[in-house]
Amino acid sequence: MINVKITESKATVYPILIQSGLLNEPEKWLWKMKSDISSIVIITDNSVKKHYAHTLLRSLEKLKIKTLLLSFPAGEKSKNQKTKQYLEEKMLRHACDRNTMILALGGGVVGDIAGFTAATYMRGISYIQIPTTLLAMVDSSVGGKTAIDTQYGKNLIGAFWQPQAVIADIQCLNTLSRKQLINGLIEAIKIFITNDAESFYYTQRNLQKILNKDENVLKKIINRAVEIKASIVEKDEKEKSGERMICNFGHTIGHAIEMLSDYKILHGFAVGLGILVEAKISQLRGLLDEEQYNQIQSLLSELGVTMDQLKKFDINQILKATILDKKSKSGKAQYVLVEGIGRVHVKQNKFAHPVTDRIVRQAVQSEKC
Ligand SMILES: NC(=O)c1ccc[n+]([C@@H]2O[C@H](COP(=O)([O-])OP(=O)(O)OC[C@H]3O[C@@H](n4cnc5c(N)ncnc54)[C@H](O)[C@@H]3O)[C@@H](O)[C@H]2O)c1
Ligand SMILES: [Zn+2]
Repeated sequence: MINVKITESKATVYPILIQSGLLNEPEKWLWKMKSDISSIVIITDNSVKKHYAHTLLRSLEKLKIKTLLLSFPAGEKSKNQKTKQYLEEKMLRHACDRNTMILALGGGVVGDIAGFTAATYMRGISYIQIPTTLLAMVDSSVGGKTAIDTQYGKNLIGAFWQPQAVIADIQCLNTLSRKQLINGLIEAIKIFITNDAESFYYTQRNLQKILNKDENVLKKIINRAVEIKASIVEKDEKEKSGERMICNFGHTIGHAIEMLSDYKILHGFAVGLGILVEAKISQLRGLLDEEQYNQIQSLLSELGVTMDQLKKFDINQILKATILDKKSKSGKAQYVLVEGIGRVHVKQNKFAHPVTDRIVRQAVQSEKC
């Protein structure tokens, strides 16, 4: 079990459990979080509902507690105000109160919208993240960032609202597609490149086992990624000191590609391309050596992420899109850079840095990529 100790807003500690079969045994984790739960609302999407809602409902029956199951169509398109309003109205109609506990059962979309609903319902109620995608297990369920999308951009309306616990049942990964698995694995690789060389090489050595969903290897990867993310969040819950910025390695270019592809390229894959470019920038700036760059490139290429996929994007459009990124400062895009596998570049206590357009162009168009 990993604990996350938050001190910035109000002091809280919440546990993250990563195990197989947790959905079948809520008695082991639910009451420990909060003893005065009046009712439970499971929020999920239609596809996760099909696979797992009934398992969870059945195991909650044992606890004899009023439970409501709410779901919405799967996918990013549902992460909006309309879905949030639908969830709130259903909860109000069922007389959910301040002691209602939300269980966010699903990937990052469910986690973000259910978390944000918890943050504002009756000025804030408790919730538990039950991530079912690898991306949600290694990244989005930890840290308390919740949000919805608007027509003006992604994640523009939201709140920092920490869950009571994160319950990752690894068995849920059995039904996840290979594409979604890789999508999440790239976020784990991002965390390892910036923080933990040993885990990067462990991932490299065990790649086939990961892709074959070997439970022990997956558990190790998830544990380590979560441990690192939790320690970053503990130091900088609300992105004030800048340490949490580390999580944005690969994301300046990644977000630009995601946007320019009209979100047809999945987030993790776009971040994979972003990692290639931002690692190349690090190399061009003399921070990262060629051998390590090649190791990053080779691992991502085994996952189907290669630089030639960037060819269809106009470099001027990419540069323009990077300025729209939330990390931009005074119209200048900011980049997280690395000094080696497992080591992020920190200069004058800053974790993200401006980079000239010339170097970005050179990195995107680099022959060696
Ligand atoms: N809050 C944060 O800190 C944070 C961090 C990163 C990403 N995010 C957000 O996370 C979202 C992406 O998350 P995601 O990649 O998990 O997407 P997602 O929630 O849309 O899930 C991807 C697809 O997998 C399906 N699915 C989920 N679990 C499954 C399972 N066990 N078996 C079979 N299918 C399953 C879903 O129904 C969906 O169709 C984005 O909205 C992004 O903005 C948030
Ligand atoms: Zn990401």
